[in-house]
Amino acid sequence: MSQWQELEHKYFMHTFERTPVTLVRGQGARVWDEDGREYLDFVGGWGVDSLGHCHPVVAEAVAEQVQTLIQTSNQFYTIPQIQLAQLLVENSCLDKVFFCNSGAEANEGAVKLARRYGKRYLNGAYEVITTNGSFHGRTLAMVAATGQAKFQEPYLPLPPGFVNVENNNVEAIKAATTGQTCAVMLEPMQGEGGVNLPDDNYLTGVRRWCDQKGILFILDEIQTGMGRTGTLFAYEQYGIEPDIMTLAKGLANGIPIGAILAKDRASVFVPGEHGSTFGGNPLACAAGYATLKFIIDHNIAGNAEKVGQYLASGLENLKQKFQFITDVRGRGLLLAVEFGGDIAPSVVTACLDRGLLVNQLKPNALRFMPPLIIGNEEVDEGLGILDKALATAKKIIEDAKRGK
Ligand SMILES: Cc1ncc(COP(=O)(O)O)c(C=O)c1O
Repeated sequence: MSQWQELEHKYFMHTFERTPVTLVRGQGARVWDEDGREYLDFVGGWGVDSLGHCHPVVAEAVAEQVQTLIQTSNQFYTIPQIQLAQLLVENSCLDKVFFCNSGAEANEGAVKLARRYGKRYLNGAYEVITTNGSFHGRTLAMVAATGQAKFQEPYLPLPPGFVNVENNNVEAIKAATTGQTCAVMLEPMQGEGGVNLPDDNYLTGVRRWCDQKGILFILDEIQTGMGRTGTLFAYEQYGIEPDIMTLAKGLANGIPIGAILAKDRASVFVPGEHGSTFGGNPLACAAGYATLKFIIDHNIAGNAEKVGQYLASGLENLKQKFQFITDVRGRGLLLAVEFGGDIAPSVVTACLDRGLLVNQLKPNALRFMPPLIIGNEEVDEGLGILDKALATAKKIIEDAKRGK
């Protein structure tokens, strides 16, 4: 353990099971540790580094803004915030924006907006239906929204107002809808919960049900948005439009930001009903504007789709080779492989030893969220390392079977 890692153990709350590497520098899809070792980064800051580490366009925008104006409070108009809001609205199906600082905070705001809508138009309805296996963030209310017992149990009792139902099941949403329901909140593809794609017609079915009942459809695109799944927003692939959408992660390429977007009819906050000190500050918004503009102007979502298909087919080839890979799934550059057993930790370590960073999604699954600017050569390099790491894992499994 390095000196920095010892200090972390001494001073930091133990909430993260960290990979034993201290990263000090990044460029594009590569990072370097404190000993100068280079790694190909397929974790990408947990799906945040859309344009890669220290992209010059973002670095320049941040450097310029940091010397111009960092924070003013929302008592005043500031230009980067308005420019980013305009770019988001002009490139999505939503009409209005509110900026905050993280994904959980964006979802909290979205739920507040839905409750506000419920108070105004639905006789005070306040309940939000979410699905099992979802992930909506770490605040108490978002833990209640997140349909995974492991995140909920340590904090019971949780704030009321959330009903978790089976994923991919419109009938379950219908059955849970009551006079108290104001919204359904879903990830178009569940990220943290397993990179789970929606069944055909699921999202259109939910959209139709929300329209029928006059309740709001909130899409959490915090992980799937900003080109990650091959289109700027994942909803574009499913022929639906949400009433409210949340963004964070890749929006400003690593500078903390979150956003709530809403259709005009759902944009029901009035002054004083919601706010944020840092949310929408010029620094984060300048980074967001530079990131989003680059993503749009250079069709980075198209690259994510193309390179994502290349990576997915490489993973399928590995599945043919290694029988213990039971599934390859995902869209664009949000991909996962699942194993027949809990070997993900040894595969992560074997990749690390060979210079590739990957994310353990579950004990039996890995997730790949590289920067969206990568090309086929980097994918080939990553797949080559993964191939060798899987061969090591295979040997570990065989040795374990033989009782070595
Ligand atoms: C779909 C989704 N929603 C919300 C969040 C929470 O975002 P944050 O960690 O920025 O609060 C995440 C984070 O992984 C996420 O994947």
